[in-house]
Amino acid sequence: MSATKEQMTPSTAASAARDSSTELLPPVDLRSDTVTKPTPEMRRAMAEAEVGDDVYGEDPTVNRFEQRAAEMFGREAAIFLPSGSMGNLIAMRIHTRPGQEIICEEWGHILNFEMASMSAIACCMPRPIRTPDGILTWPLVKEAIRPKIYYRAQTGLICCENTHNMQGGVILPQHVGDEICDEAHAAGLPVHLDGARIFNAAVALGKSVRELTHKFDSVMFCVSKGLGAPVGSLLTGSRSFIEQARIHRKILGGGMRQAGVIAAAGLVALEKSPARLHIDHDNAKFLAEALARMPGIRVDSRKVNTNIIIFDVSGTGMTSAEISQKLSVRRVYINGVNAALMRIVTHQDVDGAGCQRALEELARIIGRAA
Ligand SMILES: Cc1ncc(COP(=O)(O)O)c(C=O)c1O
Repeated sequence: MSATKEQMTPSTAASAARDSSTELLPPVDLRSDTVTKPTPEMRRAMAEAEVGDDVYGEDPTVNRFEQRAAEMFGREAAIFLPSGSMGNLIAMRIHTRPGQEIICEEWGHILNFEMASMSAIACCMPRPIRTPDGILTWPLVKEAIRPKIYYRAQTGLICCENTHNMQGGVILPQHVGDEICDEAHAAGLPVHLDGARIFNAAVALGKSVRELTHKFDSVMFCVSKGLGAPVGSLLTGSRSFIEQARIHRKILGGGMRQAGVIAAAGLVALEKSPARLHIDHDNAKFLAEALARMPGIRVDSRKVNTNIIIFDVSGTGMTSAEISQKLSVRRVYINGVNAALMRIVTHQDVDGAGCQRALEELARIIGRAA
């Protein structure tokens, strides 16, 4: 997969040309689960949230949120952060020293979409691993670990991603993640989990997030994606790890004050949203199966098990950017990954009827091109 400027353009929706007939169409935004808007219950909780200064540790809603997250993940502590990128960065800074290498999957978010913070701020080098399906395995990781020779950069951290965003929401199977953690620990290496969408994996596997993640040294997860909260991510780990994370959050300018207003929505997301994620997964499966039947589109629908679909449009004779643009005129928003690939992410704000409309618009555009 090669990335081009089509990648993840946030402006597709804004640039859509409109006429009076399309104004009436409800928008179907499948660019990402980050576009979800807070539910009425979240908005009520936000309006009523008890707040205080969280930098002083005095926001009761943030404190409850962090305690609840730690409990759900079976950890000693958790910290509320403005973003998942900050969570991954803080974990990298704590686990590594400048000049070390971080092993990650070639298409990992931490390497491709976090502004090179791994090198710019954590002062580490990525050691990316190419995988056939987005799943890092211990045999692949083992090959990439640097020998302990003083004149070679040392491996400082292994980072896994579950579910894997740019590999079609693929789930890291529990036994594979467990093996990486056991073997890495035996080799004296920490393992961080970018679990931005770990609840999607847990729901798809019928397991708890605690069970799925208990061997990782630290876990970052987002409430601002499929769980539907407006802002925020959490980092969980041991008490001493989270104490260090508080220092790094402040260094990075991420200390928040009356953050209970957003934590309140996060609490609702944690308690309520996992129970509905299976709907997003069913919608993604439905879309993938329909896409697989469309002329010029290639996707293996058997591999779609969560809420992300990456599909190849090169057989349609159009680029992803052309298709995106034509769809946006009809108020359907789907981004390209590169010229050949597009990505759909299902979520709470697009129901079955919305998915059906996206398919119809796509079929019409492809039909015209054929
Ligand atoms: C797998 C993964 N990790 C981390 C992040 C970063 O989250 P944020 O956008 O909150 O920085 C994302 C965002 O899309 C993601 O998909």
